[in-house]
Amino acid sequence: MSASRGEFSSRFGFIMAAAGSAVGLGNIWGFPTQTASNGGAAFLVAYLILAFCLAYPALMAELVIGRHGQANAVSALRKVTNQAWQKKFAFLVGFGGIICAGLILSFYAIVAGWMLSATLEPIAQLTGQVQAQTWLSEQSLSRNIIFTAAFIILTIAIISKGVENGIEKWSKRLMPALLGILFMLIIYVMTQEGAVEGLKAYLVPDFSSILNPELLVNALGQAFFSLSLGTSVMIIYGSYISKKENLVSLGAYVTLIDVFIAFVAGLLIIPAMYVAQAQGVQIFSAEGTLLSEDTLVFQVLPALFTSMGYVGIFVGFAFFALMSIAALTSSISMLEAPVSYAVERFALKRLQATWLIGGLIALVSFTIVFNLGSLFGFVITLTTKIAQPLLGLMCCIFVGWIWHRSALLKEIQQGCPEAGNSFFWKVWPWYIKFVCPIAIALVFANSLLS
Ligand code: PFF
Repeated sequence: MSASRGEFSSRFGFIMAAAGSAVGLGNIWGFPTQTASNGGAAFLVAYLILAFCLAYPALMAELVIGRHGQANAVSALRKVTNQAWQKKFAFLVGFGGIICAGLILSFYAIVAGWMLSATLEPIAQLTGQVQAQTWLSEQSLSRNIIFTAAFIILTIAIISKGVENGIEKWSKRLMPALLGILFMLIIYVMTQEGAVEGLKAYLVPDFSSILNPELLVNALGQAFFSLSLGTSVMIIYGSYISKKENLVSLGAYVTLIDVFIAFVAGLLIIPAMYVAQAQGVQIFSAEGTLLSEDTLVFQVLPALFTSMGYVGIFVGFAFFALMSIAALTSSISMLEAPVSYAVERFALKRLQATWLIGGLIALVSFTIVFNLGSLFGFVITLTTKIAQPLLGLMCCIFVGWIWHRSALLKEIQQGCPEAGNSFFWKVWPWYIKFVCPIAIALVFANSLLS
């Protein structure tokens, strides 16, 4: 394919970008909250097993399709088909994934906007801007619109620069920054009273609850959201990988980093909940269950930061900066999915396509902001509970049932000639054919029924 499509310039660049997509609010907010409300360490164990045994193989399916196609999601899926009905199906899945990525961005940008405003709030407090501080801290239409727009513009600014100078360059800067802030915060929280009790709840599993079906389903859903599956994002990132690279190890690094950051975020958030509880902030009910999942980030943690006095202002700033960075490296991948399609399908210039699609997504976001009560939850359910598992399942079907086995093997062996003989590649095609579709179908069925 033409060199002008862009390609990640290095292994490190790809790993940072794809891990940047995977690591987001889902890891730092979603995972710890789910862990706290699903029995602590038992959820962690289930999550680890499912992420490696099911989500990683499904991620490999999307990366292989993308690397083989060296094109946007629709064209890449089409390339593994032969018959006319399969080509229509490829359009449906590829285009569906692109729409899904755009819709996820439309609500994700609102939440990320809250993170941005919460990052600025401690600065307003330090500089004595009382009015600004109040405006930044209150849910208002004006604040939501301005910060959603600001976040989308940041995303557009990066994506308009392309793969190497935009996505790769910024992921390589932001991901290490994220790790640094995360570790600083953990060290601080560990020195506080109550932290050890939190660590125990997080790390010592109660094995009796590990086979609870609801826990398993939640853990698998979390793993799929976290690895950005079923949105065509990993297909497009896969398409920017050079044919010389070994896909198995690249995918493994991305999964390892994603799981590692979720695990480390748990080391911060769960002990922080216990520290807050020790300081009199009500977090758990008498039975030990989490009182409210939604208020964790915006009430529980800010209450903890306030109780720390002046230090808390800096800790609060660092925490919300961390959340904003994590959100940004994910949101750029969501915008890249539709932009790459528009550039290749309609021969638009990247800059035009980015502003056009970014603008459209901003309009959808504003519509949600104006109807927060009715639309916000609806779009989240539609995309993360219905579209993502369904489209992830379709990608497995493409690789397992539609793609010719010999062609698949040939693609797999690019950059790694010994791959055909490795244990992974012997087991993986079966996984993708049977185990992954059945497991995802179970998650999907459950999310429809619940
Ligand atoms: N993986 C991101 C997170 O954990 O926050 C969310 C995400 C990114 C979902 C990209 C979907 C997507 F296409």
